[in-house]
Amino acid sequence: MPVLTTDRLRLDELTDADLDDVAAMVADPAVMRFYPAPLDRTGAQRLIDRNRARYTELGFGLWAVRTHAGEFVGDCGLTMQHVDGRDEVEVGYHLRTAAQGHGYAAEAARACVQHAHQRGIERVVAIVDHENLSSQRVALRAGLLLESVLDHGGRSTHLYATTVEGPGPDE
Ligand SMILES: CC(C)(COP(=O)(O)OP(=O)(O)OC[C@H]1O[C@@H](n2cnc3c(N)ncnc32)[C@H](O)[C@@H]1OP(=O)(O)O)[C@@H](O)C(=O)NCCC(=O)NCCS
Repeated sequence: MPVLTTDRLRLDELTDADLDDVAAMVADPAVMRFYPAPLDRTGAQRLIDRNRARYTELGFGLWAVRTHAGEFVGDCGLTMQHVDGRDEVEVGYHLRTAAQGHGYAAEAARACVQHAHQRGIERVVAIVDHENLSSQRVALRAGLLLESVLDHGGRSTHLYATTVEGPGPDE
């Protein structure tokens, strides 16, 4: 049973059977442009293992995204991230280069945000490098709004959120 389905996509828990697809995606420097470096096969296996641990601990993680015809598109899902001094639920997405440009990331991300809301998680964020314009568009199309621009890991980063919080009373 998939975790989520959309008009064109299904999202399933990652398994070891996804290793070839995940390894090919994360070895691509274009996909990993906003990460420290592409990952080798061991890194891809770790990514799968980390998400399997998240399913157990949190009930969510990054899920494998496929078309209904079974073509591997990438991953998308929910993770916990520490940003701007607080723990947040982030919607994340990574698409094979060949699967980009079809709106799949926004379609999958919207479903993940709705899934979070159904689980009682009101606030979902996306932490996006200021140069990652396609990801910024995906965040907007998934229903998030730009909340702030901050330093995250030494990079100027846009924080998008479903519930945007204004400055506090002292700010
Ligand atoms: C981010 C990512 C998932 C988007 O994939 P996608 O769904 O194929 O996105 P698209 O190519 O359809 O582009 C999404 C939007 O950005 C726009 N866009 C793409 N490249 C752009 C650019 N260089 N400048 C401005 N806008 C751009 C597209 O026109 C589209 O706009 P629209 O929604 O108004 O039509 C994909 O690029 C990816 O996997 N990147 C690598 C991993 C990554 O960076 N993940 C996000 C980490 S925060």
